[in-house]
Amino acid sequence: MRVLVTGGSGRLGRSVVRVLALRGHDVVSVDVSPGPGAPEGVRHRAADLLDGAARTAVFAETRPDAVVHLAGVSVPFARPDTEILDINTRLAWGVLAQAAESGARVAAAASSPTVFGYGAPEWRPRYLPLDEVHPVAPWHSYGLSKVIIEETARALARTHRDCVFASVRPSYVIAPEEWAGAVTQQGHTVAQRLADPALAAPSLFNYVDARDAAELFALVIERPERISSGQVLHASAGDALALRPLTELLPRFHPGTEESAAGLTGSAPAFATGAAERHLGWRPKRHWRTELRGRPDAAQHPDPIA
Ligand SMILES: NC(=O)c1ccc[n+]([C@@H]2O[C@H](COP(=O)([O-])OP(=O)(O)OC[C@H]3O[C@@H](n4cnc5c(N)ncnc54)[C@H](O)[C@@H]3O)[C@@H](O)[C@H]2O)c1
Repeated sequence: MRVLVTGGSGRLGRSVVRVLALRGHDVVSVDVSPGPGAPEGVRHRAADLLDGAARTAVFAETRPDAVVHLAGVSVPFARPDTEILDINTRLAWGVLAQAAESGARVAAAASSPTVFGYGAPEWRPRYLPLDEVHPVAPWHSYGLSKVIIEETARALARTHRDCVFASVRPSYVIAPEEWAGAVTQQGHTVAQRLADPALAAPSLFNYVDARDAAELFALVIERPERISSGQVLHASAGDALALRPLTELLPRFHPGTEESAAGLTGSAPAFATGAAERHLGWRPKRHWRTELRGRPDAAQHPDPIA
């Protein structure tokens, strides 16, 4: 299948293009940045997808069967609020609509679990773990842009019946080199994130291996008939990125979650991935306990849960 991946040079995109190429797809990565260089079997195309003419040219040239849309501002507060909202929402409409109009039969966009609004003062989940149907309540422009991206997918699904749209919410993405000690998105290593629970608390101790998330995007584009158009799917690890149970940690950092977190004993995470498992048979394969095993900096942190 010919797959166009936007943002293919990024932290998640690099794994997505690699996994898709390994699965035998003909992959074109489109990004303003060349990144570290496209892996074997992946063609890189430089373009600013906010530029309508450039975007149209890329789609006309590529004629993709499937589109994975990852490009955008990927971190809350990385740019002024109005810019994040503008860039992410314009990119999503432009890319997803053009995907359908140029004949793609499936288009999957990256959303984010920040749509739930954790981190806002007085934030309280209705229940935990958070699943795909828990109400959203964004409080910053990044989270709001992701709600709009999900709604964009649903809006386009109403008029473009030949294309299946999906939104995937990846948790805090850990790229392969980050298990080996490279800094993660927030500027510290995985081992530091484990050692100081204040670092992972803002994202409710969530994470996902970039290759696992990439495999979910692959399953979406390979089996679109298994989901309903506009579907939201969580891509999150099967455990929490924490050395203590969340029943203890969440109330410490998010007061008022004592009751909802009561069931999160052992290594249980705050996010559920039931939709991806039910519809596509996806399950996260990589966990910090196995990925960090034998790494010198991780050995300093004995695991009291395991
Ligand atoms: N990394 C995470 O923890 C995480 C978690 C949840 C959701 N997401 C979402 O997943 C997607 C990918 O995240 P990431 O961590 O790989 O981000 P990233 O910032 O590493 O990569 C994004 C890529 O998009 C490209 N891009 C931005 N604007 C563009 C434009 N106008 N035209 C073409 N390319 C453009 C950038 O050059 C970059 O290579 C984003 O949509 C992000 O919001 C990421």
